[in-house]
Amino acid sequence: MSLNIIILAAGKGKRMHSSLPKVMHKVGGKSMLEHVLISAKKLNPSSINVVLSPKIESIKKSFGGYDIAWHSQSEQKGTADAVKIVLPSLKEDEKVLILYADTPLIDSDLLDKFINYMPKSDVKVLTVNLQKPFGYGRIIREQAEVEIISKIIEETEADDLQKNIKECNTGIIFSDVSTLNSLISEVKNDNSKKEFYLTDIVSIANLKNMMVVPLLSKETNSLLGVNDKLQLEETEQIYQSNNRKKFLRQGVTMLDSKSVFFKGDVEIGEDVEIEANVIFEGNVKLGDKVQIKSNTIIKNSVISSGTEVKPYTIIEDSLVGKNCNIGPFARIRPNCTLEESVGIGNFVEVKASNIKKNTKANHLTYLGDSDIGENVNVGAGVITCNYDGVNKHKTVIKDNVFIGSDSQLIAPIIVEEGVTIAAGSTITDNSEKDSLLIARSRQQEKKNWKR
Ligand code: UD1
Ligand code: CA
Repeated sequence: MSLNIIILAAGKGKRMHSSLPKVMHKVGGKSMLEHVLISAKKLNPSSINVVLSPKIESIKKSFGGYDIAWHSQSEQKGTADAVKIVLPSLKEDEKVLILYADTPLIDSDLLDKFINYMPKSDVKVLTVNLQKPFGYGRIIREQAEVEIISKIIEETEADDLQKNIKECNTGIIFSDVSTLNSLISEVKNDNSKKEFYLTDIVSIANLKNMMVVPLLSKETNSLLGVNDKLQLEETEQIYQSNNRKKFLRQGVTMLDSKSVFFKGDVEIGEDVEIEANVIFEGNVKLGDKVQIKSNTIIKNSVISSGTEVKPYTIIEDSLVGKNCNIGPFARIRPNCTLEESVGIGNFVEVKASNIKKNTKANHLTYLGDSDIGENVNVGAGVITCNYDGVNKHKTVIKDNVFIGSDSQLIAPIIVEEGVTIAAGSTITDNSEKDSLLIARSRQQEKKNWKR
């Protein structure tokens, strides 16, 4: 079977009240369209077709990693019109699965089951029973033959009796190109919104003695559509709750899982403990026995086994080695690599730096654009002065260096192996290894001084 997927993403998204295209709003750190693309791709279709409005064509560049045939719907004349734009590029006998880009939690296993559900039919519709069906098209089943849908009635066209129906259209429809062509060509826009509703193909099919068959799914949560910010929040909460349950089941210990947020692709090892108010963003990997304490944000980073990240720490785009101690109140900015057993303490900021094993910077320090060796002790208040107002320069600190408190290293500079820097020094010049550098004004004593 040659399967083609059509994803509708051209709608205005007026109800979001936002300048951002609706399908670019994020759930769990990824755009809604990306979620649908991920599920679509898992079905190994022969094509993925996305219908966009020309006004939001710029979003295409965010999806370079996907093999997508883009289609442009110049005016948002309705879901039937959007599908109609794609059909000429597909072969008559091919199968089509229609998805809406505003249904981000749709799961590929359910789609697979839906596609392979094989009653005799011309069109299949995935439906769901919703306690709050407001806004959805309602499913009207044929009285005589309940396994047949006779009509889908949109909220705006429904009477009070029809509005009481809880079975809703998910928007997910499966058919073939020739059937869709013949049905969509007859859809009219004589309704309150003056739109060509894709859902009208159901009553048209019935007039043509075609069979429209429902598959009623129990997976309510994964089939919710997002039209406004309330539904976006609701969907986000479902997504988060699914992730929390997944990690708890997998053995992660969480103090208060409701306050832990997963906004991206997170991998977690064994015996990991996560306290409260923690956000993971992007690609995050936590090794075994990692401890993440409260009020911490970790973005696009690897935290290796045995490392403890203490409260109020932010780590971004970096690699943290095994058995490190980071925080409290530490900030690891992008492009840092910390090797094993590194200690980064309170009020320490590290940026674009490589720090080798057993090195410690425990208090009030800025390390930027630096390469720091093994067993280095960086005293309190040390600053690598990396910026001259125009350019950034590198600081190299070799193994076994001791840097006394409140010292500044004026980059570019190399501090050779074994050097000791006296507290309060401003180091401007390179030196030989194993030297003691003292670069501060001498103390003067004026006896019996009168103020
Ligand atoms: C639609 C269905 C409704 C269903 C619900 C499920 C229709 C007429 N109604 O309603 O039966 O219960 O989804 O969530 O299909 N789009 C385009 N071009 C257009 C119009 C819409 O690409 O001209 C896209 C939108 O970007 C969106 C999707 O189609 O991704 C659905 O459109 P939307 O306006 O959200 O339809 P609903 O009112 O939610
Ligand atoms: Ca919708």
